[in-house]
Amino acid sequence: MEVSKRILIAETPKHLGKEVKLAGWIDVRRDHGKLVFLDLRDMSGKVQMVVLPNHPEAIAVAQTLRSEWVVEIIGNVNPRPEKLVNKDQPNGALEIEVLSITVLNTAETPVFDIASDGKEISEELRLKYRYLDLRRDRMQKNMRNRHLVTNFIRTFYSEEGFVEIETPNMTKSTPEGSRDYIVPSRIDKGKFYALPQSPQQYKQLLMAAGFERYFQVARCFRDEDTRGDRQPEFTQIDLEMSFVEQEDVMEINERMITQLVQKIYPEKTIQTLPFPRLTYQEAMEKYGCDKPDIRTDKNDPNLLAFCWVVDFPFFEKDDKGGWTFTHNPFSAPKPEFMNDLMEKKNIGSIGAAQYDMVLNGYEIGGGGIRNHAPEALKKVFEIMGYSEERIEKNFHHMLEALASGTPPHGGLAFGFDRLMMLLQNEPNIREVIPFAKTGEGRDPMMESPSEVSVEQLIELGLRITKEEKDGK
Ligand code: AMO
Repeated sequence: MEVSKRILIAETPKHLGKEVKLAGWIDVRRDHGKLVFLDLRDMSGKVQMVVLPNHPEAIAVAQTLRSEWVVEIIGNVNPRPEKLVNKDQPNGALEIEVLSITVLNTAETPVFDIASDGKEISEELRLKYRYLDLRRDRMQKNMRNRHLVTNFIRTFYSEEGFVEIETPNMTKSTPEGSRDYIVPSRIDKGKFYALPQSPQQYKQLLMAAGFERYFQVARCFRDEDTRGDRQPEFTQIDLEMSFVEQEDVMEINERMITQLVQKIYPEKTIQTLPFPRLTYQEAMEKYGCDKPDIRTDKNDPNLLAFCWVVDFPFFEKDDKGGWTFTHNPFSAPKPEFMNDLMEKKNIGSIGAAQYDMVLNGYEIGGGGIRNHAPEALKKVFEIMGYSEERIEKNFHHMLEALASGTPPHGGLAFGFDRLMMLLQNEPNIREVIPFAKTGEGRDPMMESPSEVSVEQLIELGLRITKEEKDGK
């Protein structure tokens, strides 16, 4: 009988006693001479196969197979004899009796073991051969769960009336406290786009545009030292709402996260509901940091201790003795401090309408209510010592938009990679990012960053000096 349609390994139990076509990778081959055992792997799981001596053609092919070869198999789904049933494996009660094998592609011997969890292999090597590294069970689960969580989040906000809108990646510098990545313009030589540190300004402009509820799975770029919980390129779940107060933004996001955990990670426990709240001052006094780890049991991998940190100071002194924002220049002061902002007095004690969500000692999200009155935003820049000219040059569009009938608004952004790292019990965010960069911001697989040709430089009107080339 000709079996035409390939089925997934996870579907094999439904075909017990029947002939099926499977396709995938050789996970393990055990050659017993007359008998060859094969473990086949596809996106849905693994299954044990046996090639018996009464199929000499299949045995001949099976003896040539190596790990990671790609094959198509036709075989019978048989129950395993009682004493060979493995209850711990999803397909442990059955075995495929191989009738024929077609090799779809061969594979070089993998440079490292992909059956292990990979933690014993150097990360540089794992990133260089990321497409192999991603084949391991742990990484497959991380990526697939990342997808499940994104899907949950998209559905949740959509059902709450939010609309997902994409904002540009080639834009202008937004001050979020980090260094920008810049992109030279060919047409406007000597001018540069900046990659967004976040969609902050665009999402506020979308409130000016009347969307009222926006969200986006947004890529952000920050040229800062990479750490376990930081990457130069990372993903935010970014959102903004009109006609809301701080409580409204906190409520909807606490509800989203709670439902996400209950639905996708039912094995996990949220330590306290509703999430406890600490003021910035309380957090500093009690825990000595503004992202406290309040877990009652730090050995429990399934314990999620969320909390909110609120009442941040708006301004702090910078290195040069001037004032700078602690979080975001677009934040509003808490209503009781609006007078102080407008009169530029008691600056150090102005409280910001700002809130961070913290999980197990990591800041997983942050947001605020914004200044929707242009005069108030202007005061923030004046306090930071920006000249009239600089305010005009950099923020003219924001001030104009606020002056065009922008509703009161506020929002929040989750660091999506950090959230996934914690939900997947991973030690750093690189484990949940498909193509992550090294600690030095390099991609060993693509070998980026890389030099560009002289022609490209000329076209862009750029010249690299010898000192820069030598790294001086
Ligand atoms: P903020 O700068 O606090 O706020 O960023 C929001 C969240 O993004 C995560 N995050 C990072 N994750 C990985 N790598 C990085 N380099 C990195 N930097 C930040 C953190 C952080 O809580 N526009 C505002 C949000 C708003 O006010 O609505 C913003 O970007 O988890």
